Amino acid sequence: MISDARCVPVAATDAAAMGGLIEDEGIDLTVVGPEAPLVAGLADSLRAKGHPVFGPGADGARLEGSKAWAKDLCERYGIAAPASRSFDDSREAVAWLDELEAPYVVKADGLAAGKGVIIAADRSEARAAIHTCMTERAFGDAGSRVLIEEFLEGREISALALTDGERIVPLALAQDFKRVGEGDTGPNTGGMGAYSPLDWVDPEIRGRIEEEVLAKALSGLRSEGIDYRGVIYAGLMLTAEGPKVLEFNCRFGDPETQVILPRLTSSLAEALMGAARGDLGGYAATWTQESCVTVCAVSGGYPGDFATGIEIRGLEEAAAGGSTVVFHSGTSIRNDRVVTAGGRVLAVTALGQTLAGARERAYSTLSRISFEGMAFRRDIAAAVAAGSSASDGGTSEGGKG
Ligand SMILES: Nc1ncnc2c1ncn2[C@@H]1O[C@H](COP(=O)(O)OP(=O)(O)O)[C@@H](O)[C@H]1O
Ligand SMILES: [Mg+2]
Repeated sequence: MISDARCVPVAATDAAAMGGLIEDEGIDLTVVGPEAPLVAGLADSLRAKGHPVFGPGADGARLEGSKAWAKDLCERYGIAAPASRSFDDSREAVAWLDELEAPYVVKADGLAAGKGVIIAADRSEARAAIHTCMTERAFGDAGSRVLIEEFLEGREISALALTDGERIVPLALAQDFKRVGEGDTGPNTGGMGAYSPLDWVDPEIRGRIEEEVLAKALSGLRSEGIDYRGVIYAGLMLTAEGPKVLEFNCRFGDPETQVILPRLTSSLAEALMGAARGDLGGYAATWTQESCVTVCAVSGGYPGDFATGIEIRGLEEAAAGGSTVVFHSGTSIRNDRVVTAGGRVLAVTALGQTLAGARERAYSTLSRISFEGMAFRRDIAAAVAAGSSASDGGTSEGGKG
């Protein structure tokens, strides 16, 4: 952000300091980005002081903060989702495995930074996953409650919408690539790349996503008395029976946002302010026909252990091209040099007339960037760009997540 804005270090969960900063700087609109401060109620504290905020309060953020709560919401308001049950007792969880068939999906209830879901190939793996969550507390308190879920097959996509608490403004659909390895192999990550639009999703399915998932989620939240202003993000499996909700997030998720927002031709500031003020009525989202692809560069070893503090080269050369953006996530500046500071280090986004053109541009920009141990997938959006959409990423096969 440093090239676009003046950055001020304040902990995202320090509501008092954040409120002070907003007042000192005369900030008009606050966008709360990450899930942890949303779940902790940062938006509530700031709204209580009269500041316009984009992002739900703690009540609405339960959509992401508790998978069990989100499941209940789906059940109460008739939103299609996999069969699932939540457990506070590990023996009961293990006993319920008898009712299901392999593979088993075991999910920590709370926030686990994208690591709390284990797809277990058989009963003993599922038992081990329950043990890891509930007894070993590998995800801390997030795993004190566990969900066990029916395994769904299909293609996985992400549907995001803005809401002002009354209206839904659906954003362009995107697909991300979760597995670390090419050909959708290896463990799940926070995302290795993404693309938008999804031309292969037909209009009928789009309509169902808007009406049966996004609009129903908002009306469910409203029925619960929740004034939700921000992003509703639905992670969906397109099954033979139609779209089903795997999870909700309460914010812009990456890498999807990195291919959605560059395609937005209407004003983002107006959209965010409209949502924050409860007034999206006059807003119409418009999109470029161009395609967008993003490819993430990750630290060697990710999603397992990895080193940090490694110098990143080629960023200036990469910045030279038009229609591309290098989004930093796991980076920091040390002695005037940009170094790695996380697992998913950066993502290179490019627009193009076609998906193939956007891919080419993203990969050619990425080829100018290097750091020791840098890894990336070479097949982001490859199958769809080549026209064989049926075999593209996001399909879900068994295996350990
Ligand atoms: N019921 C399910 N059937 C098949 N795959 C699933 C199911 N639930 C989750 N997954 C897979 O696990 C990934 C992570 O699950 P998700 O619920 O999105 O949790 P999180 O993003 O918090 O890790 C999903 O993107 C999907 O690939
Ligand atoms: Mg997810």
